[in-house]
Amino acid sequence: MRQSSLVVVANRLPIDDSVAPDGACEWRRSPGGLVSALHPLLRHTPATWVGWAGGTGPAPSLPDIGSVRMRTVPLSGEDFRDHYEGFANSTLWPLYHDAVEQPEYHRRWWEAYQRVNQRFAEATAEAAEQGAVVWVQDYHLQLVPGLLRELRPDLRIGFFLHVPFPPPELFMQLPRRAELLRGMLGADLIGFQRAQAAHNFAQLVAKVLELPATDRRIGVDDRVVRIGAFPVSIDTAEMAALAARPDVVARAQRLRHDLGDPGHVILSVDRMDYTKGIEQRLKAYSELLASGHVKVRDTVLVQVAVPSRERVTQYQILRDRVEREVGRINGEFGRVGEPAIHYLTQPFDRAELAALYRVADVMAVTPLRDGMNLVAKEYVAARVDDTGSLLLSEFAGSAAELPQAYLVNPHDLEGLKQGLLSALEADPADVTPRMRAMREHLHRNDIRAWARSYLSALDDGGSLLTHLAPTG
Ligand code: ADP
Ligand code: G6P
Repeated sequence: MRQSSLVVVANRLPIDDSVAPDGACEWRRSPGGLVSALHPLLRHTPATWVGWAGGTGPAPSLPDIGSVRMRTVPLSGEDFRDHYEGFANSTLWPLYHDAVEQPEYHRRWWEAYQRVNQRFAEATAEAAEQGAVVWVQDYHLQLVPGLLRELRPDLRIGFFLHVPFPPPELFMQLPRRAELLRGMLGADLIGFQRAQAAHNFAQLVAKVLELPATDRRIGVDDRVVRIGAFPVSIDTAEMAALAARPDVVARAQRLRHDLGDPGHVILSVDRMDYTKGIEQRLKAYSELLASGHVKVRDTVLVQVAVPSRERVTQYQILRDRVEREVGRINGEFGRVGEPAIHYLTQPFDRAELAALYRVADVMAVTPLRDGMNLVAKEYVAARVDDTGSLLLSEFAGSAAELPQAYLVNPHDLEGLKQGLLSALEADPADVTPRMRAMREHLHRNDIRAWARSYLSALDDGGSLLTHLAPTG
């Protein structure tokens, strides 16, 4: 087996299998923030990506993507149910997102989590060269740093959490909280999206494990584990270039025409997830239609909601409720050929997403809690002419970096309605400087800046940066 000096470990590989119209199997980039962040970064970098290809049963053998070797880890039907759908997405995901849905705790799920983490650690140990850098990603794999350190003490191990890390009073609910914290502490550097998350982690380590901990350093046995905030980003230049491409500009014009050339287009793009605040947003929109503040002929809402984690009950309930509400709103306020909401559940390629971003006068990103939210950043990057208003939840990690957005509390229905109206009615003299400031911020703080700052911290300013290819 060929080995690499840089190994990224993430539950999901950057590609999903899907069936082409002619019935053949084809691969496409999987929707989701982690893949969107890491895929452009690694495309030109010699590395191995250890992950799951979706589906159950034996691991398919995948072709390399650019310079990245794919090392698949298989999940059985039981692993899929108890690790992926269970511990990862029905225990940790809701717990880490403010418990906006009730987390569930089952001993069988914890056993599967340990088993699958062990399998990932073993696959990584095989794929890593002597002294390699290993970068473990996200909440599915919190035990991997500790397991890997036991197998391969020669490795330099980083861990990055893409989702929020909750305050102690929530995390303390977890029956196996000490083991999870210990697993993460196998890393040399633990990265979070926000400083508050690093603070929460340090407090928990001090309380649960009784280790000396500050918001920057934790003493574990004879090692020091560093922790800190590294807000993830996007390939800003790539999205800007895509949005400026003549075919994308033409597609955006066509879309606007097909939408009936309305005065205002509002866009939302989410995975169908209860953390995204889709129901609250629909309620706000419905009330604005009912009160006449928004009129169907003048304004359209395009809601893209790609299905996610479809067998998990909470996701099924959400989808049913969203679809019922969209149907109700269209039935009540739409006209023939003029729906109030254009509702799309398909995955789109990057060019189609860029065209949608170009068409949107207002982008509504209103999650109840979100580690970062890259959709908000993609929208800003695509607004190359400095037009467009971003309506953004205070509870998205990106709000800390984009204060020029129209910030709202999505739990406050009146505030949400007012924010939407302010964004819709904004004076261009106000919109342009806001958008310019946000775009400039994202050009300075793009995905490569994120990787540079993380990897140089992992190496204490040393030579790890040479692992990254010079162009993204
Ligand atoms: P999350 O990580 O929770 O899914 P983010 O907003 O951080 O949320 O990232 C979502 C990513 O998935 C973005 O890069 C976005 O472009 C992509 N995405 C969302 N919806 C679709 C879709 N319908 N088709 C293709 N990509 C999508
Ligand atoms: C979020 C998580 C990622 C995950 C993505 C898509 O971005 O942080 O780890 O890959 O959602 O979710 P999925 O369950 O389809 O992998």
